[in-house]
Amino acid sequence: MTKLTGAEIASHNSKESCWVVVHGKCYDVTEFLPEHPGGQKIILKYAGKDATKEFEPIHPSDTLDKYLPAEKHLGPVDMGTVAAEDEGVADEAEVARLERVSRMPPLSQCYNLLDFEDIARQTMRKTAWAYYSSGADDEITMRENHAAFHRLWFRPRVLVDVERVALDTTMLGSRTSVPFYITATALGKLGHPEGEVVLTRAAAAEGVIQMIPTLASCSFDEIVDARRGDQVQWLQLYVNKDREVTRKIVAHAEARGCKALWITVDAPQLGRREKDMRSKYDEQAAQVQDSDDNVDRSQGAARAISSFIDPSLSWKDVPWFRSITRMPIVLKGVQCAEDALKAAEYGVDAILLSNHGGRQLDFAKPAIEVLSEVMAALRERSLDDKMEVYIDGGVRRGTDIIKALCLGARGVGIGRPFLYAMSTYGEDGVRRAIQLLKDELEMNMRLIGANTVADLNPSMLDLRSLGLHTSIPRDHLADQAYDRLVPPGLKAKL
Ligand code: LAC
Repeated sequence: MTKLTGAEIASHNSKESCWVVVHGKCYDVTEFLPEHPGGQKIILKYAGKDATKEFEPIHPSDTLDKYLPAEKHLGPVDMGTVAAEDEGVADEAEVARLERVSRMPPLSQCYNLLDFEDIARQTMRKTAWAYYSSGADDEITMRENHAAFHRLWFRPRVLVDVERVALDTTMLGSRTSVPFYITATALGKLGHPEGEVVLTRAAAAEGVIQMIPTLASCSFDEIVDARRGDQVQWLQLYVNKDREVTRKIVAHAEARGCKALWITVDAPQLGRREKDMRSKYDEQAAQVQDSDDNVDRSQGAARAISSFIDPSLSWKDVPWFRSITRMPIVLKGVQCAEDALKAAEYGVDAILLSNHGGRQLDFAKPAIEVLSEVMAALRERSLDDKMEVYIDGGVRRGTDIIKALCLGARGVGIGRPFLYAMSTYGEDGVRRAIQLLKDELEMNMRLIGANTVADLNPSMLDLRSLGLHTSIPRDHLADQAYDRLVPPGLKAKL
């Protein structure tokens, strides 16, 4: 087969005829332009060019086969004739970043999950960091998620024989070595070239359950293929407007051995993460110089990938999910006792109390706080044994996990910290992050006087400060725009 040349491809560089190169092959995407979930503009930027670098992190490898008819796959390209992407312009920020990467401390010097976060901030690509780290609006909820754990204090029991401490438990009927799991987070290849399979491997080695995201960079099958032995995986689901698409995804996941279906219910529309939006904007502004009025004010990675999500999803859909799968069903993103009780009424197997890592509704309450409200409501009606309750958001320490378990959570989801560990030190980093949490859990269970996770109970906590939001929320106005109030100073020296 004769290969297409760069010159030929370059002539198809408009809305009328738009060809792009991905991984050495050419595709005619002219008719697909209006359907692209991320909008036409971003494709047109690469019309007639090699789009591999932009395409790779946000499209699973089976995307083109799935969405582009075979006749639009135009065949292999003679890459020698394709102009290299414009990387000639010295990118000072990138040079500086690589220099910082070269000075990363050895992994053995990371002693807790916060360390990975700090190193990630200094060494990740700007757009990747912006997408992973951003929260909604002023990021008050995102910060509160972490801070809320600081409002819970322990009431430990002493003189308990704690020679043996066991961390294992069951979640949704599957055994697991620890009471936490790797939760679903989108776009793994922004942080690591191999993407989510890195988390799969680390999870296998450490006996931790992994939730597979709908919006992964790797394809679903790649993530399942990376599974080892009887490793447990769950599916996180964004529900498509086309329910047939959703039905197929669920059936496929079940056939491939996923052990539970986590339906995201807190994101009828993805939140505005301004850091993410701004970083995209800056990047494009840098490339499209002196065309200020024409700059595509892209909505950031999150919005580009999420237009298929169905905002009309409602309680009436829950029985339908029950009818299409035998997997346990979890509602991911419940945020108050009323909805927890409703979930129990609808007979779901579990709920996850979550505000989506503070990425959706700013001023949604931290899950650890909602947990206390929800467990009280469930206990009052003897429903606490009928439905498992999970939480996520802001978890960074073994003590955070213990606090959630004391309040009645079955397990705790952890997202960003594992992404940061993966983005900085790859699989070894994720394994170390898990091991550090295991160490913290074991030691703190001992110090609290608990041998197993079943021993953890509400009497081990002082809850009195939990609901107090006394600290002044800080946003950029507080940090950067409000002038300090200056008290009268001493008189100048004579
Ligand atoms: C996010 C979605 C994709 O929070 O889960 O960005």
